[in-house]
Amino acid sequence: MSAPMLEIRNLCKSFPVHNAFGRKTGAVKAVDDVSFTIDKGQVYGLAGESGSGKSTIARTIMGLERPDSGEILINGESLSRQSRGDRRQVQMVFQNPGSSLNPRRTVGQSIAVPLDAHGYAGKKRDRISELLQMVQLPADFAERYPHELSGGQKQRVAIARALAVEPRLLVLDEPTSALDVSVQARVIDLLADLGRRMELTYLFISHDLSLMRNFAGNVGVLYRGQVVETGTAAGVFEQPSHDYTRLLLASVPVISKEEEAMRPKIPLIDGEIPTAEALLALRQADQPASQERG
Ligand SMILES: Nc1ncnc2c1ncn2[C@@H]1O[C@H](COP(=O)(O)OP(=O)(O)OP(=O)(O)O)[C@@H](O)[C@H]1O
Ligand SMILES: [Mg+2]
Repeated sequence: MSAPMLEIRNLCKSFPVHNAFGRKTGAVKAVDDVSFTIDKGQVYGLAGESGSGKSTIARTIMGLERPDSGEILINGESLSRQSRGDRRQVQMVFQNPGSSLNPRRTVGQSIAVPLDAHGYAGKKRDRISELLQMVQLPADFAERYPHELSGGQKQRVAIARALAVEPRLLVLDEPTSALDVSVQARVIDLLADLGRRMELTYLFISHDLSLMRNFAGNVGVLYRGQVVETGTAAGVFEQPSHDYTRLLLASVPVISKEEEAMRPKIPLIDGEIPTAEALLALRQADQPASQERG
């Protein structure tokens, strides 16, 4: 049996917290003992609210952040032991295509950066056209500047740039959250299609669990740096076991009457989404926070 594409074992990462005078007053555990595995060709969805540690995990996988402890294995090999060539296997697409593309570079020049960095030997112009075609953009977009593109088009360019060096694993950190809902769906369709055709493995990060429903095989729900729930996307949607997951699901747009009936009723506390602890306390007090099903 071949090794999983990505294996994360007991990953921990803290950041110092400073007060207004710049003095260190403590630490925030951004990632707290996180483990998960993604098999080759699979899509793993990592969901969680803002600040739950999603990007820290992504940045650690990319080698942009050093873990405090734990291990990251790519294709069975520890990240710390990988060569530059091996690192090519993993590429990332960031949330905001506006800031991840250099405004002073044409689309073609941006896509050429990773080709140059990894010493692409073929004809660059042809490769750039081919990559633009993969993301369903016309070849003449190579001459355009980012400000001449829509948000969705920019994100397609960012995807083309990530694919330039033929990675095996793509880390997608909220790749569609800056886009309109209709554009979101089309970018996800494109990613799903590319994934199938090129046998890519995806770590798909989003605060929006509903985006993962049809895209991810397995999902993990991150809450304050910890994976509090994991399972198949379908399983987690149908039978969420953690209060926090229900909370995330409660904001999912409703599709059918059945689903509306299944939606948990989560009260806001002072107009705010309550913490899982507050929810639990409510439930223990036997208030209508408890979920009724069936
Ligand atoms: N470089 C850093 N220095 C200090 N604290 C950091 C740093 N990066 C992240 N953090 C803290 O770590 C925690 C997790 O942040 P992270 O960016 O991983 O969350 P996230 O789930 O990606 O959130 P979002 O949905 O807003 O992107 C937060 O409390 C954040 O403030
Ligand atoms: Mg983030």
